[in-house]
Amino acid sequence: MALSTSSVITLKINGEKYTLPVDHRTTLLDALRERLDLTGSKKGCDQGQCGACTVLLDGRRTVSCLQLAVAAEGHEITTVEGLAEGDRLHPVQQAFLDLDGYQCGYCTPGQICSAIGVIEEHAAGWPSAVTDDVRPEAGPPPLTADEIRERMSGNLCRCGAYVSIVEAVARAAAAGTSADTRGRASAGSANDTEGAVA
Ligand code: FES
Ligand code: FES
Repeated sequence: MALSTSSVITLKINGEKYTLPVDHRTTLLDALRERLDLTGSKKGCDQGQCGACTVLLDGRRTVSCLQLAVAAEGHEITTVEGLAEGDRLHPVQQAFLDLDGYQCGYCTPGQICSAIGVIEEHAAGWPSAVTDDVRPEAGPPPLTADEIRERMSGNLCRCGAYVSIVEAVARAAAAGTSADTRGRASAGSANDTEGAVA
């Protein structure tokens, strides 16, 4: 008996449901960009090394080029398209805008999604490779420029906008940015688009 190589899956993205058939080898990035026309997430290397494709999966950052679409079923997926509330940008988006945290903008959606993940990870007390005191009782280390650079090191910027990116992440973190994108996505459109792509 021949094994099936495709399945019909339902992805919950930015609070909306999308049902579509996919080849099992389809990455989440390709499903977003090529099948669902959500082109905010960018394809840079397509092998997990540049971070341009970063999205949030249940609030945690992941590179969508290494995530199979079928494995993303049942999770809350947040892309850069789902961050703003109407005309109001997410605070991290606003900080990037205010501080020129970009030049060509190609890496920016991934940088912003990653920054949201960084702020949440830091607030939760996760240490990084440059954290001096990693004892749990030490709590979150100060979110210094070195901490931000290390935590954002998976996101490359060919334009070299790093100085402004670090400033933008620091400003958003200092402003107490809520990274609760899961709640925001869950509260999204009541008009789910099941069957929108067949
Ligand atoms: S496109 Fe996914 S990490 Fe580069
Ligand atoms: S702003 Fe151009 S690659 Fe980062």
